[in-house]
Amino acid sequence: MQKITEIAHQLLKEHLKAGGIAVDATCGNGFDTVFLANLVGPKGTVHAYDIQSIAIERTKRLAAELGLTNIEYHWESHENIALPKIDGVIFNLGYLPAGDKTITTEPDVVLRTVQKLLNHMDQNPNLLIVVVLYPGHEKGKKESLVLESFLSQLDSGYLVTKIVPLNQHNAPYILTIERKRPK
Ligand SMILES: C[S@@+](CC[C@H](N)C(=O)[O-])C[C@H]1O[C@@H](n2cnc3c(N)ncnc32)[C@H](O)[C@@H]1O
Repeated sequence: MQKITEIAHQLLKEHLKAGGIAVDATCGNGFDTVFLANLVGPKGTVHAYDIQSIAIERTKRLAAELGLTNIEYHWESHENIALPKIDGVIFNLGYLPAGDKTITTEPDVVLRTVQKLLNHMDQNPNLLIVVVLYPGHEKGKKESLVLESFLSQLDSGYLVTKIVPLNQHNAPYILTIERKRPK
């Protein structure tokens, strides 16, 4: 079976084009960032956010090892995303693997950032948001409830999709949000 992050990557791979602009809202160890950087290529840009300097450093190191130079680093909360055009965003929620497990994404902060991106979607209709959630720990469970409760109320001009393993208890899963395309 594919890992849930591989499915998230596949969705972004189908959506993003060379020269595009992508955001890794939680760059952590950098695996999502370098995946996006390879997808958008040298003419594209990835904006990598994290509140932990160690995450920014790890991501920079990985990108340097791979010779990737199309990444802009933001040592700050993803709440501060302020970009005119974005084609794809990944939020890989939770704590930094091999890091401080007490520092995790916060449900209210993630919600505010998603709301900010949605408000931006009228001018930015190509945006695909992919969120990987981990309901197996307490904060992750709350994140799932907060986000799903908000997203399930969105008007039908948006398309919100949930990709969840049906027979695994509290397994990681994916939410995607995009503008519904005209028929
Ligand atoms: C599961 S890790 C991300 C994994 C990463 N994308 C990778 O490929 O290795 C979650 C990260 O979110 C970061 N984080 C928590 N709150 C944040 C916020 N408000 N803005 C940006 N990053 C945040 C944590 O510091 C942690 O590094």
